[in-house]
Amino acid sequence: MYIKQVAVIGAGTMGADIAYVMANAGIPVIVKDVDESALTRAQAHIADLFQARVARGRISAADAQGRRDLITMTTADAALVEATLAIEAVSEDMRVKKRVFQDLDRILPPLSLIVSNTSALSISELASVTGRPQRVAGFHFFFPAHLMKLVEVISGQKTSADTIETLRRLAEEIRKIPVSVKECPGFVVNRVLMASMAEILAFQQETQVPYSEIDQAVVKSGIAPMGPFMLADALGLDVALEVNRTLFQAYGDRFRPAPQLEALVEKGHLGLKTKQGFYSY
Ligand SMILES: NC(=O)c1ccc[n+]([C@@H]2O[C@H](COP(=O)([O-])OP(=O)(O)OC[C@H]3O[C@@H](n4cnc5c(N)ncnc54)[C@H](O)[C@@H]3O)[C@@H](O)[C@H]2O)c1
Repeated sequence: MYIKQVAVIGAGTMGADIAYVMANAGIPVIVKDVDESALTRAQAHIADLFQARVARGRISAADAQGRRDLITMTTADAALVEATLAIEAVSEDMRVKKRVFQDLDRILPPLSLIVSNTSALSISELASVTGRPQRVAGFHFFFPAHLMKLVEVISGQKTSADTIETLRRLAEEIRKIPVSVKECPGFVVNRVLMASMAEILAFQQETQVPYSEIDQAVVKSGIAPMGPFMLADALGLDVALEVNRTLFQAYGDRFRPAPQLEALVEKGHLGLKTKQGFYSY
């Protein structure tokens, strides 16, 4: 199946970056959010990403403008009627996602694919609220999606081989590396990432070593380009906690959410997006 037009549902941290990645590869994108201000922020973020490519001499200003023009922002469902693929990137909440999947199933042409960027939730459960479970899959980008190469392509119980093949080809077209993954809570990368994060949080609580010292040590050691606390703040502590809770429910004690993380989210300190998380911004 040829993907002519992509719809991205949710213009937050991930949705905005995914829309940029699609447009940068020459694919028309419609971005839908229920919140106008999220669309405005996404537009500004995408403009910055294109501007940075122009400043580095990677593309001309005219090319950047041409690619930006491939993106349409909307709050209206009616704008999605011609999408051949919808990528759901709304909040990590099964109830919210199911409503979005039901709406997309009603609005999109019958042969279009509907995929989720969920970090940990069940693809089969999302597929079950649609009349096209064979055309539903996980298509999981990593933060920040404009830089990270890997995309997990996740089969639900009823996902067809054609759907997976189409998504793998699309991932290559947008210059990503697809990895096919069977469904399980957290898939592969987030199980590993959250297990490491749980251990680091436990270490921090036992030793009271400041977050900044741990982050600096991780970066200096070359294990990762960014320390775990800085990364968690950037990707959103609410999202991290939701993923953590899903893994805790599925796998038990080794993923018990850390008290520091729960306390921050309870106070509304969600990281960069609220200017307060493990760090103040
Ligand atoms: N943040 C990350 O690092 C990261 C990485 C990989 C995957 N994910 C996953 O991607 C998804 C989105 O995460 P995020 O960090 O971008 O979240 P976010 O909170 O930054 O953005 C979510 C957006 O969805 C919008 N939204 C909520 N309900 C909606 C609806 N019914 N219709 C349209 N828009 C709606 C919100 O207004 C908001 O703008 C989640 O499933 C998350 O687990 C996140």
